[in-house]
Amino acid sequence: MKMNRETIEREYPNYRKYIRNVFEAGQARIFRWWDEIQPLEKEHLLEQIAPFDFQFIRKLFNASLRITHSFCGNLAPPEIIAVPGNAAEKKIVQKVEKIGKDSLRRGEVAVLTVAGGGGTRLGVDVPKGTLPIAPITRKSIFQLHAEKIQAVQKRYNIKIPWYIMTSENNDPVTRNFFQMHRFFGFDSQQICFFTQGMLPTLDLQGNLLMDSKSNIIMSPNGHGGAIIALKEKGVLDDMKSRGIKSIFYHQVDNVLIKIADPVFTGYHLRDRAEMSLKVVKKCHPEEKVGIIVVIDGRLHTIEYSELSREDMCAKNGNGTLKYNAGNIAVHMISLDFIEKVYREGEPLPYHAAVKKVPYIDENGKMINPEENNAIKFESFIFDLLKYVKKSVIMEVIREDEFSPVKNMEGENSPTTARQDMVNLFGRWLRNMGISIPTDSHGNVIGLIEISPCFALDEEELKDKIDKHLQFNGCLSL
Ligand code: UD1
Repeated sequence: MKMNRETIEREYPNYRKYIRNVFEAGQARIFRWWDEIQPLEKEHLLEQIAPFDFQFIRKLFNASLRITHSFCGNLAPPEIIAVPGNAAEKKIVQKVEKIGKDSLRRGEVAVLTVAGGGGTRLGVDVPKGTLPIAPITRKSIFQLHAEKIQAVQKRYNIKIPWYIMTSENNDPVTRNFFQMHRFFGFDSQQICFFTQGMLPTLDLQGNLLMDSKSNIIMSPNGHGGAIIALKEKGVLDDMKSRGIKSIFYHQVDNVLIKIADPVFTGYHLRDRAEMSLKVVKKCHPEEKVGIIVVIDGRLHTIEYSELSREDMCAKNGNGTLKYNAGNIAVHMISLDFIEKVYREGEPLPYHAAVKKVPYIDENGKMINPEENNAIKFESFIFDLLKYVKKSVIMEVIREDEFSPVKNMEGENSPTTARQDMVNLFGRWLRNMGISIPTDSHGNVIGLIEISPCFALDEEELKDKIDKHLQFNGCLSL
């Protein structure tokens, strides 16, 4: 193994401090191919290590060895605004919706789409947002979001600033995708891309993992990284300069997202909430969604992986699940609240995830591990909840608002996302008296796609559709 510190320092004196840090942190293995790699590769490796805080990385690793459950205390279900059932509840919704609409009209709401994740479960090397997903036209997820934002803009006669968080791994390809599609009709100033931070991936002994002789494997620092990036990248200032007061936050992978929903916005504003959440009822106890709970009087999200079997299956007297508020990661977040967190809060904690990550071994051979071999560190946006004094938790109907693309096949895949879209459009049409056939699972037989630019919701569709329409198995509007 050739990794003489003095030689490397002599070659790159400007990096002396960083090279020393590597050796002192016991990470000198990263230089084992120093004599084989080219000058440009050497510079790349040194550039990579320059920002590393090895003490912090060691702290994260040590903490990852200790954590079993990231919470302790007494669990209780949170208070939730249920889906309106009767006329009185629907009336309240109308009032609340007006508050949301007024704020939208005043241009106070920005959209933040987090799209920096690696999409590892999906197993494809493209940003999730670029996946062709629409049932007939195969428009991408990004295009569907773009069209929804445009429809909202048209409805309220405003321009909504759209912030998209990427990571260094997928930023260039995401931006190219938007350029290729001429920003889906937005003027390019209106869409603001910013990158989140990255952290090195470690092996199970705490060593930096590499995927080539000159590259340390880096991973995005979790969607909680948005909070740091909003400040460091000047995004929050940009929002303020545009008169934004609250952020509609959502994950890129949910194809049924109701972007800038005025009802949700209205509840958030009416209750002067700091951070609000939408939830759905879990479809089965093991569903891989986080759940919202109260622990010792404070709101928390507990990840599916952190919930004990007993709590996962706990039931109420009437047989329903006790902890049933599935987090669909749709939030309203007030700018004032984010600033309060900067002033008074601690940095969000990091969660360690043990994963299978391809790497090169000590012989420089690429290994595709069959067992978990790596630790990644991520902070979660919903850890902000511990700073929240006032929050609204609004239950929504899963079939109307939640269908994420997580896997290539099976549950939460492009196939289920397309079917869920078709089923939603089918329900809208059926409610207007148009006959839409379904199979024994309730899935529409045939294909339907309604562009958000044609109709953003059922109400709008009602105004535009020919009531005598005969569905012949394929309908694209
Ligand atoms: C996430 C939530 C879970 C929720 C579910 C709903 C976590 C830890 N859990 O689960 O509570 O029920 O979504 O769909 O998030 N992302 C970034 N940067 C990152 C990591 C992720 O922007 O560093 C983005 C991804 O692009 C994606 C979203 O965050 O849009 C969710 O990431 P993902 O890893 O798919 O979370 P899940 O485990 O599915």
